[in-house]
Order: sequence, then structure tokens, then C-alpha cells
Amino acid sequence: MDGKLQRRVPRYGWDRAAEFYNSSWQAGLLPAHDQLLSMADPQAGQVVLDIAAGTGLVTSRLAVAVGPTGRVLGTDISDRMVGLATAGNDHQNVFFERMGAEELSVEDNVFDLSVCALGLMYVPNTTAAIAEMYRVTKPGGRAAISVWGPRNKCGWADLFPIVDAHVTSEVCPMFFHLGGEQVLENALVRAGFGYIQVDRISTEISFDNDNHALEAAFLGGPVAMAYNRFDGPTRAGVHAEYLASISAYKYGTKYRIPGEFVTAVATKS
Ligand SMILES: C[S@@+](CC[C@H](N)C(=O)[O-])C[C@H]1O[C@@H](n2cnc3c(N)ncnc32)[C@H](O)[C@@H]1O
Repeated sequence: MDGKLQRRVPRYGWDRAAEFYNSSWQAGLLPAHDQLLSMADPQAGQVVLDIAAGTGLVTSRLAVAVGPTGRVLGTDISDRMVGLATAGNDHQNVFFERMGAEELSVEDNVFDLSVCALGLMYVPNTTAAIAEMYRVTKPGGRAAISVWGPRNKCGWADLFPIVDAHVTSEVCPMFFHLGGEQVLENALVRAGFGYIQVDRISTEISFDNDNHALEAAFLGGPVAMAYNRFDGPTRAGVHAEYLASISAYKYGTKYRIPGEFVTAVATKS
């Protein structure tokens, strides 16, 4: 898939997913958000950038941390995400703007802290995105990135091949790559960052029943655009395949699906 198409798929895919995002993922992503905020350690008065901010779940917590003397800019490639984040924002010190992670329309050396929570896996050129984080962070400032761990640590990972079998190109070809050993560290070093600290946490993503698990997989996430184009029988087929792929994690009617999050924090010297 060429880079332009790889950007269109997440942009319009996430537009579709936006309204289902919080009900699908807010609870499950909480451990990653907590880990990112604890490692990033935002301080009162800081100017902070949240890249791929989605509905603003992390942005609003950053706003509380930096307080009224600080400022937070939340950015995302999806218009719908930016619209929902703006509509739900009740902090005076937070602004949202549509912007791709690989080309941030902000000046050099502006932010005390730049974060990206669970967004980098969808960016076609992660090197460019990390270089942008470096460029916009002040010397002495910090960057913090969270990604999902590798495929074998994420019990829902068959979702991608199940959907890919019905589309002409892979939905998220590099999704699990960033969570591999040393991958984030090496990428941060290549961008110029130092003092890198990485932490991995094992977690479980819970869903109340089949419908909740299916909503999160097919409506609230990155395969929403591909799924939207499937006809009824194809949808029924991918539902059955996906539920079979997570059946080992079913307890009664509920699911507890294992996952891993990796967070790295680094300093621009
Ligand atoms: C899983 S959501 C994460 C949202 C939020 N950071 C959170 O942790 O709740 C991924 C987000 O990445 C955004 N995204 C995907 N590709 C992007 C890109 N190239 N540039 C900026 N944002 C992008 C999507 O629109 C979506 O809102």
C-alpha cells in the first residue's frame, strides 16, 4: 500500500470509529494511559503536545496535570476525533487541531513534553513521526510513547488477518512491530533522543459479552473502514472467526483478553 493510501485508511477509518471509541476502549486502555502519564510525569505550567489524541482521554488528564498555567495541544489525523475531542473538552487550557503525526504544523522547540498514546502503530512513517516529536520538543524536554506489545502478547491479534483476508491490502501491516524488543528504543535513539526508559505491562482487556467484543473490534478501531464495506454474509463470517479466535479468553458471557503495552520516555538533549 502506498503512503498516501496508508494515511487515508486510518483517517477515514478512525472517523467511522470515533463514536464507538470510548465505549469500546476507554476502560481497556486505562493501564496504558496510567503508565504513560506516570512515566511522562507532566508538571504544572508545562506546554504539552498530545499526538494522535483521539477523543482526548489522555489530553484531558494532561490538562489537569499542567493546571491553569500550562497548555495542552491535542492533535489527530481524524476530523471526527478532533470534533468529538473539542466537543467534550471542558478545560480552558486545551486546544485540539487536525494534524498528521508525520507533519506537525507547529514550530520547533515548543513543547516541554510531547506524548503519543497508542497512535504510532497507525502512522505509515514512524521514523518521520518520531523525528517530528524531536523537532517540536524543547531541548531538555521529554517525549513519551505508548504502543501495544508484540502479536504473541495480544490475544485479539487475529483480528487483522481475519479482516485482511477480505480486503486487497493489509489494514495495519506494521501494527505489532513497534512493540518488539528494542524497537521503540532504537527508533528514539535514531531520532536523537537520550536517557531512554522503557516499561512493559501485561494487561487484560475486558468485554461484557460477544456484542461488546465485536463492537470494539469492528466498529471502534482501525478496521472500521474495511468492515463498513463488507456485505452481511462477510460480516457474519468475520464475526464468527473473530469470536472463535478469542474463545479461549471467554469466561461465562464475558471476555478477558490478554494484552501488553510498551511505554518509552526519552529526553531531547
Ligand atoms: C487507538 S486511538 C488512540 C487515541 C488516544 N491517544 C488514546 O490513547 O485514547 C489512535 C488514534 O490515532 C489517530 N491516528 C492514526 N493515524 C494517525 C496519523 N498518521 N497522525 C495522527 N493521528 C493518527 C487516529 O485517528 C486515532 O484517533
